[in-house]
Amino acid sequence: MKGVLLHGGHGTRLRPLTHTGPKQLIKVAGKPVSQWCLEDLRNSGVRDVAIILGDIAPLRVVEYYGDGGWLGLNITYIYQGYPHGLAHAVYCAREFVEDEPFVVYLGDNIIFEGIKRFVEKFEDSDAAAQILLAKVPNPQRFGVAKFDKEGRLIGLVEKPKVPPSPYALVGVYFFRPPYIFKAVESIKPSWRKELEITDAIQRLIDWGLRVDYDFITGWWKDTGTPEDILEANRILLDGRISKVIKGRVSENAVIEGRVYIDEGAVIKDDVVVRGPTYIGKNTVIDSETYIGPYTSVGDNCYIRNVELEDSVVMDNVTIKDVNARIVSSIIGAHAVIERKKAYPSGIKFVIGERAKVFI
Ligand code: G1P
Repeated sequence: MKGVLLHGGHGTRLRPLTHTGPKQLIKVAGKPVSQWCLEDLRNSGVRDVAIILGDIAPLRVVEYYGDGGWLGLNITYIYQGYPHGLAHAVYCAREFVEDEPFVVYLGDNIIFEGIKRFVEKFEDSDAAAQILLAKVPNPQRFGVAKFDKEGRLIGLVEKPKVPPSPYALVGVYFFRPPYIFKAVESIKPSWRKELEITDAIQRLIDWGLRVDYDFITGWWKDTGTPEDILEANRILLDGRISKVIKGRVSENAVIEGRVYIDEGAVIKDDVVVRGPTYIGKNTVIDSETYIGPYTSVGDNCYIRNVELEDSVVMDNVTIKDVNARIVSSIIGAHAVIERKKAYPSGIKFVIGERAKVFI
């Protein structure tokens, strides 16, 4: 089975983090969200993957994943350009998939239990499509399944005002060509001016083709908002991080619990790191610092005299002498947070569009 990873979209709810890069490259528990997806595909036996690139810094995706060899994958890149919807993105992959069954993975979705058993099920079936559903408290935000009285799947509605069920479409879809491509050719853009994958699957149901479904019972997240990113970070640190110390830890530093300290990182004296946490490559954690549970610090950061908890700090960040506790925060790459003595005294900012600061 081939894989198609969707890496486009504008990530508007994650601005300003997405002004300079695609949302799927935001790191949680030490890896970009889309890397967790790619590793899930690989662990499910998929080897050939096409990444569909959007129009926000697509080259950063190519630079990061390369040919995929380092992940045990063969990666091909396809430019979607402007995001005309998920169905359009899938349609862009038709030459890549040829006549093989394929799995489409939205690069901002994290499925804790992984998709292996669903890949195997689809390989053994001859269904035109297979979808995954999860019970959610806010189905209005998703594509939602509609069942008849006998419990048969009869429809799918995208972001309904009045949801026909509490079951949302998870962002992993299985298809057999050529049906899905014919379906995409037959649909019209929705109210949000996108070709919806939900509408294309509805066509398959309307044409009487077999569409199987399964329920996901474990944790699943579509990481569209800052709160989602923090929650994904907590769940993955909790479930995927074990104690690994590749970097250098000073004798007078205290490391408690499951802390992953990556290569080249340095933990100096007078530092407490309490897991589950992840400290990235070549990052320096200097004195008078506490890194608390559920914190991921990226690569090449410098951190001194601050308490940091339940937060995601991206690469190349400097946090110095803040002498306060930073909680539940997402700090974008190359940001600097520093307390400096200067006159006139006060708080000084140079912050990007749509930044959020709570003091
Ligand atoms: C998309 C799909 C929706 C699905 C969701 C899962 O929504 O349109 O049907 O439930 O992904 O993540 P979007 O992220 O475009 O709002």
